[in-house]
Amino acid sequence: MTGSSSARDRHPDPAAPGTPDDRPGAAPDPTPRATPDPPSGTTSGTTSGTTSASRSASDAHRPDRAPATVPPAPSPYPTLALARHPLVHHKLTLLRDRHTSTKIFKELVDEIALLLAYEATGDLPLEPAPVETPLEPTVGYRVSGKKLTLVPILRAGLGMVDGVLRLVPGARVGHVGLYRDHDTLEPVDYYFRVPGDVAERDFFVLDPMLATGGSATSAVSSLKRAGARRIRLLCIVAAPAGVERLARAHPDVRVFAAALDRELNAQGYILPGLGDAGDRLFGTR
Ligand code: PRP
Ligand code: URA
Repeated sequence: MTGSSSARDRHPDPAAPGTPDDRPGAAPDPTPRATPDPPSGTTSGTTSGTTSASRSASDAHRPDRAPATVPPAPSPYPTLALARHPLVHHKLTLLRDRHTSTKIFKELVDEIALLLAYEATGDLPLEPAPVETPLEPTVGYRVSGKKLTLVPILRAGLGMVDGVLRLVPGARVGHVGLYRDHDTLEPVDYYFRVPGDVAERDFFVLDPMLATGGSATSAVSSLKRAGARRIRLLCIVAAPAGVERLARAHPDVRVFAAALDRELNAQGYILPGLGDAGDRLFGTR
């Protein structure tokens, strides 16, 4: 795009030849902090973000209290795995930028989803697989896990489907339709459709935002009612309240996120967050 002033133009990919290293967190920290709060075993937090986990997330997002090392900080929750790859954090910063266009936003969600899927599939079981190379027979491996099904939560989760499918092209795709009631912030269920043989499948629920956790908790409950047993959530930005609510309702569901943000505002938006993911993906505001 010639003459564009998109965020990506202003923060080029670090891998591009001749570009400066502008990865988030690379700036020197004038006031190094002690190690982050220890993991909290209990999940008694509220949406106000007053737990030790949210205080830890809070410090990491204050410009005057930059983390001493590049992200991620260790996850303060046993159910939450935070992405480690520097490119995830670089791309996430572009995603947060209010100047990022809808087109670039969509591309970034897609790319981060692929990288999250890489992390979330890291423990897939393997089985031996005989193969003949052009020179001789040998034994390699193939993934022996259950059939994988992606379940985007409409609308914003749709933006993550193609990225995950590029890594796992054989996955099936179901859909859960939910939106948050603006007043109560509770999810309203409007659609549910997943492939059959539910008990035989591994499910990845996809949603860029885990805010109050109401939507993710409801989606997981619907999947379990349909017979699903193995479910993971891939999200881009998580809030402490959402991680805690999901863990209280479904402690067996692991969450793979790019970042754990500070807290929710009074309207249930994640701070610092990235705004309304659905609107930014589909250009509806
Ligand atoms: C957003 C987001 C999540 C939900 C998260 O969807 O994509 O589904 O909010 O919030 P929660 O954790 O508090 O439930 P939204 O309801 O805005 O619908 P949309 O994707 O159709 O815009
Ligand atoms: N949904 C969004 O799209 N963004 C938030 O910050 C919270 C919920």
